[in-house]
Amino acid sequence: MDLNSDVEKVLISENRLAETVRRIAQEIDRDYAGSGYKLLLLGILKGSVVFMGDLMKQIKIPVEIDFMKVSSYGRSTVSSGSVNILLDLYRKDLAQVDILVVEDIIDSGRTLSYLCEYLKLKGAHSVKTVTLLDKPSRREVEFTPDYVGAEIPDEFVVGYGLDYAEQYRTLPYVGVLKPEVYNA
Ligand code: IMP
Ligand code: MG
Repeated sequence: MDLNSDVEKVLISENRLAETVRRIAQEIDRDYAGSGYKLLLLGILKGSVVFMGDLMKQIKIPVEIDFMKVSSYGRSTVSSGSVNILLDLYRKDLAQVDILVVEDIIDSGRTLSYLCEYLKLKGAHSVKTVTLLDKPSRREVEFTPDYVGAEIPDEFVVGYGLDYAEQYRTLPYVGVLKPEVYNA
């Protein structure tokens, strides 16, 4: 079975993703160089893993990495609206840490607005966010990420870490599925 044959159109090609990741890494290098604090890339499982892996290789300044897991959409393509922490961040030195939350996509904004508040309450020196994709037209709560790869229209996308029902994460590009895939 070829996953590519379920894709209706490629929204962001492999080459464009690579360019986007390099551009964001340069912005991060520029903004955090010599900050005096530890920089922690905090990936949100599982959707961010491909983006995170590529991004960390392009960042030149010293970084540490960690992961959190929060409740996801399950099998549906519609947000459930509530956020649960399934894997937490444990470290005692958060006052010395600049956290950069790495997310695959922002939709309603609920996940990241909740997480940012949570991490600030835990005592991080600073909390910023980077998202590969942003769907600003879908916002239910006000939220503006600090770094954005690309704004996309209100379409459900897969690939480069993003899934539909846990599939398609391995595609090297971001694409839109054929409607019959959802109706199968
Ligand atoms: P938010 O809390 O509504 O902003 O949800 C963000 C999360 O929803 C992302 O981390 C994804 O896991 C998931 N999500 C939102 N839109 C898509 C999409 O188009 N494809 C795959 N996952 C999505
Ligand atoms: Mg996600």
